[in-house]
Amino acid sequence: MLRLIPARSQRPSEDIIFTLSTEAQRRRAAGESIVNATLGALLDEDGRLLVLPTVARAIREVTDEDWAAYAPISGAPAFLDAVITDCFGNRPGFRESATAVATTGGTGALRHALVNYIEAGQALLTTDYFWGPYATLAAEHGRRVETFRTFDESGSLDVEALGAGVDRCLAAQGRCLLFLNDPCHNPTGYSMSRTEWDAVTQALLARADEGPITLLIDLAYFLYGAADDPRGFLDALEPLLGRVSLLFAWSASKSFAQYGLRVGALVACEPDPTARETTAAALAFSCRGTWSNCNRGGMAAITRVLTDPTLKSACDADREQARDLLMRRVHAFNEAAKGLSYPRYEGGFFVTVFHDDAAAQAARMREAGVFVVPLGSALRIAVCSVAVRDVPRLADSLRS
Ligand SMILES: Cc1ncc(COP(=O)(O)O)c(C=O)c1O
Repeated sequence: MLRLIPARSQRPSEDIIFTLSTEAQRRRAAGESIVNATLGALLDEDGRLLVLPTVARAIREVTDEDWAAYAPISGAPAFLDAVITDCFGNRPGFRESATAVATTGGTGALRHALVNYIEAGQALLTTDYFWGPYATLAAEHGRRVETFRTFDESGSLDVEALGAGVDRCLAAQGRCLLFLNDPCHNPTGYSMSRTEWDAVTQALLARADEGPITLLIDLAYFLYGAADDPRGFLDALEPLLGRVSLLFAWSASKSFAQYGLRVGALVACEPDPTARETTAAALAFSCRGTWSNCNRGGMAAITRVLTDPTLKSACDADREQARDLLMRRVHAFNEAAKGLSYPRYEGGFFVTVFHDDAAAQAARMREAGVFVVPLGSALRIAVCSVAVRDVPRLADSLRS
């Protein structure tokens, strides 16, 4: 007899990305030449997971006691301070208004935002190309996803559609929680320009008195973008401080190439001290009510690479090498993909190629040993996992 409640007995059991990648690995093991552009982890040119050596060392040096002990419910204070600095550098407006809790990766941060900033049954708002687990997280917590058109006719972020989406949410549910994943948006690869950030700020300011608006920026890939200063976009957001709630989903998964460590944080900026305290209490309650506390050893290791000057510069150098490798692939893709239709791609783990019949195209490519993920009328390509030498074959296959 099935004892699951009805709402939970129709859950899909297969993940398309995992299924495709398993097939790619099986065929490669059987001797076939395969290009596997499905998995969102940075691989080296030999197809092995790229690990940042300084981070691996810091993890090995964590004490047995740190691995064994519980952590504070909200996360270790030194870790939270280090994350706030990593998010904002020395921008006092953001730093002084920030409160943070440790979460199980960026995913945990998204989860806390969903349950604390919209009511059960309500929808978060995001671009119509979005990272699939936003919908999974929303459904798991009795929420939904509503979208607006990602790109306008000129290929820029459709800020007008964003504004209309915010209006819809405010009208229908009296509040709006907007998720923007930038830079290096998953899945499109798009990074917003300063002009686009300014326009988003203006759109939100224009509506700030109409109801509570919360903007969550999903920073999963923020250290892999093309900007000289990965925190530069914050200057465009400064006028929003105190007018809308600003949340940052911070994750060590990509920044430190430690996907399995499950270290992340949700940072909330509330200039008003009472609002900040109330927010901190709500987020701490969410931690207690889900995972209780996060991995103390993981936080200890990441705190050291964020704060010990020698380790920090060694880690930054390791990451710079990883980012250079990724940039070589990005440039190789832009070179080889001439004639294909895809958004401006300046850096990041993924890019999306638009295609009228994406499912059929992906199936053709798969037959030829090239694996990509079909998503509606587009194909997601994990450039992060494709060797530079394989990029031309990947691009040719996209044209086949
Ligand atoms: C857009 C985006 N947000 C958030 C995450 C969260 O990752 P994690 O929970 O591993 O930190 C990912 C991971 O792939 C992602 O692609």
